[in-house]
Amino acid sequence: MTTPTLDPVYRPGLQGVIAAETRLSHIDGQAGQLVIAGYALEDIAPRATFEEMLFLLWQDRPPDAPERDALAAQLAARRTLPPQVMDVLRAAAARGLPVMDALRMAAGLLSLSLSDDTPQSAAETLVAAFPTIIAAYWRLLQAETPIDPHSDLGHAANFLYMLDGQPPEASRVRALETYLNTVIDHGFNASTFTARVIASTGSDMVAAITGAIGALKGPLHGGAPGPALELVFEIGTPERAEAVIQERLDQGERLMGFGHRVYKVRDPRADVLNAAAERFFVGEHAAFYELVRHVEAVALRLLEAHKPGRGLQTNVEFYTALLLHGIGLPTELFTPAFAIARVGGWTANALEQQANGRIMRPLSAYTGAQSRRW
Ligand code: ACO
Repeated sequence: MTTPTLDPVYRPGLQGVIAAETRLSHIDGQAGQLVIAGYALEDIAPRATFEEMLFLLWQDRPPDAPERDALAAQLAARRTLPPQVMDVLRAAAARGLPVMDALRMAAGLLSLSLSDDTPQSAAETLVAAFPTIIAAYWRLLQAETPIDPHSDLGHAANFLYMLDGQPPEASRVRALETYLNTVIDHGFNASTFTARVIASTGSDMVAAITGAIGALKGPLHGGAPGPALELVFEIGTPERAEAVIQERLDQGERLMGFGHRVYKVRDPRADVLNAAAERFFVGEHAAFYELVRHVEAVALRLLEAHKPGRGLQTNVEFYTALLLHGIGLPTELFTPAFAIARVGGWTANALEQQANGRIMRPLSAYTGAQSRRW
């Protein structure tokens, strides 16, 4: 049988291109809907544990109670980092490197902790280790001793515990878990696609995830929520919002937390995160919540005037910033928290790609010199 010749199509940034099939998540960018393995986001995210979400993505069905507990125990048993990882984190902290850089370096070293050769086992090791790497590194950056993981706590609770050594309140754990569930998977976003490209070559799970961390770091993808919150801090009071935002747009800057490649209506994840965040902004904190809502309204109005008809709406990162701030995370940990969640989706996508996929190999349009002679 001969291979059919396909007419090449140029789509900058692969916009509108379907590169593979997936059973993991479905985005309807026109209706503003996100489905995770068959469940509407707003149904599952506030209710499931993160361990249940992982099982769902990896096995394509929810776990029963013994399966859920077994996975939780399995992950808890893999939280401790090899000493070489701690050495690298100390060296990175001495240089004051960003948390995402330390995470990328440490993730690559997790090949040292793999207990067997299966990609599923590697996926569990990576997911289990991310919170330990991030919490340990954050404490090293503050010149504090890292806190050992607590095997009796769930994935989300243990991350909060390792940051400050205090047993976290249930409301903070639930809010973090809702966040992790909300952003665990989202079609072929840049970091997930990176993981799939690497997996498509037959490379290993650690390589796929290490590459994905690099893609997530960028401000156009996972790096947006810190700057989004910093803009709100800079604005400070509602009456300053219009002038500050207009000045940013006039200078050609992009407003972090707004716009999306796929959603041309409001990102459904924003509302799930807003609902989870509200409880933290009562009493003396209510004014900050009102400021955030005002900044959002002004930004949407000015963006529509700036790029009429382009459908620039609030994306997940704006309310990520609000929720993670409400939980009490510093802005430097916003993108790393995203990685703690998304590594679940990355591993599920890498497993799916390895099982069913073809090697990712698009074409390029050559624009260089012609007919030169050496
Ligand atoms: N602020 C100002 N202008 C914007 C913004 C923004 N946030 N987003 C897009 N635009 C402009 C673009 O420059 C473009 O203008 P042009 O055609 O005159 O050059 C126009 O609006 C349309 O842009 P899109 O084609 O919709 O944007 P694209 O799909 O290329 O990029 C992206 C999407 C990267 C998310 C973009 O909207 C952006 O940079 N947003 C800010 C960063 C951000 O919040 N990223 C997080 C995204 S969610 C996630 O990754 C988890």
